[in-house]
Amino acid sequence: MAAKCSVAIMLVGALMLMCAGLASSATRCPDCGSTQVPYPLSTGPGCGDQLYKVRCDGGAGALFFDTPNRTYPISSISQTIQRFVIQPPSFLDNNNTCVTTDLSTEGLQLDPNLPFNITSGNTIFYLNCSESLLRSPLNCTSTSLCHTYINNSAEASSCGRAPICCTFRPGGSATTYSIRVRDGGCQAYRSFVNLDYSLPVSRWPAPGVEIEWVPPPEPLCTNQTDCDATSTCAPSATVGVSRCFCNTGLHWDYVAGTCALGNLFDIIF
Ligand SMILES: *[C@@H]1O[C@H](CO)[C@@H](O)[C@H](O)[C@H]1NC(C)=O
Ligand SMILES: *[C@@H]1O[C@H](CO)[C@@H](O)[C@H](O)[C@H]1NC(C)=O
Ligand SMILES: *[C@@H]1O[C@H](CO)[C@@H](O)[C@H](O)[C@H]1NC(C)=O
Ligand SMILES: *[C@@H]1O[C@H](CO)[C@@H](O)[C@H](O)[C@H]1NC(C)=O
Ligand SMILES: *[C@@H]1O[C@H](CO)[C@@H](O)[C@H](O)[C@H]1NC(C)=O
Ligand SMILES: *[C@@H]1O[C@H](CO)[C@@H](O)[C@H](O)[C@H]1NC(C)=O
Ligand SMILES: *[C@@H]1O[C@H](CO)[C@@H](O)[C@H](O)[C@H]1NC(C)=O
Repeated sequence: MAAKCSVAIMLVGALMLMCAGLASSATRCPDCGSTQVPYPLSTGPGCGDQLYKVRCDGGAGALFFDTPNRTYPISSISQTIQRFVIQPPSFLDNNNTCVTTDLSTEGLQLDPNLPFNITSGNTIFYLNCSESLLRSPLNCTSTSLCHTYINNSAEASSCGRAPICCTFRPGGSATTYSIRVRDGGCQAYRSFVNLDYSLPVSRWPAPGVEIEWVPPPEPLCTNQTDCDATSTCAPSATVGVSRCFCNTGLHWDYVAGTCALGNLFDIIF
């Protein structure tokens, strides 16, 4: 029994060494300050997947997400679910106005050609809205959760002077790429991730917008020198584009960014 166990342990060890020894063709970027930058996020041309750019301010040790119009600080990253949370901008004029500071760039707008979208984990409040919103599918009733937020939050207290606000949860069939504020629409927004509606506003998390990245495909290559020993450079379904496809017996693990063996436990037991 003991011997059998130690054999199993040795086997696990050997397999783990093998996995660790597999040089990855997909290079993870170095940490940004104390924050890990998981694959496929890329802080530079030599690492990650170039479609998944984020920016590391090395001096501040902080990560930022650049949209075409504006930069947002990244406050957390969850690699296993392919999501990160950005910090939305605050209210103008030291919170004395119900207008968020990104009104000039019409709120948060992601480039729809990039593999990022706004998740259904966000509860979004549109604030200081015009009457035209009453004809929208958003919940702009007097009992809408946005009123609970306004009534109980110091930062949004000025929004109490603006009668119309609306609550919205992305998802459904349409992919969401923007939280739009503009003249004639709404002048401010707030977003909260994984909000527990039973909690009082005083126990809500800090505002945040959760963004999801589409699982990355295998890394691009022009020839075999771009790939490691675990993969082969071959044409992909897209004409003229080749990728490092994993060799027989291995599969592309997009979370780790490597060619991986099957589930370790399936193999041993
Ligand atoms: C405005 O609200 C934010 C919370 O989003 C808070 O961090 C900040 O201190 C407030 N600013 C002022 C001047 O009260
Ligand atoms: C609502 O937005 C308008 C237009 O930007 C602004 O003039 C007004 O001050 C805002 N309302 C409040 C209560 O801040
Ligand atoms: C913001 O970016 C989008 C493209 O994502 C662009 O269409 C729009 O005009 C920009 N808005 C402003 C105010 O810069
Ligand atoms: C709007 O939200 C409130 C609070 O969650 C809810 O009670 C109400 O039924 C909703 N109204 C509509 C039209 O969805
Ligand atoms: C918010 O406060 C206003 C004014 O005190 C009150 O009429 C309204 O019922 C409150 N709404 C919610 C949802 O708490
Ligand atoms: C965002 O993209 C993912 C991955 O493609 C998709 O599964 C998800 O439904 C999208 N989310 C939204 C809110 O559109
Ligand atoms: C392989 O591609 C690299 C660029 O990715 C290039 O520098 C190198 O010359 C190529 N090697 C061959 C044998 O084509």
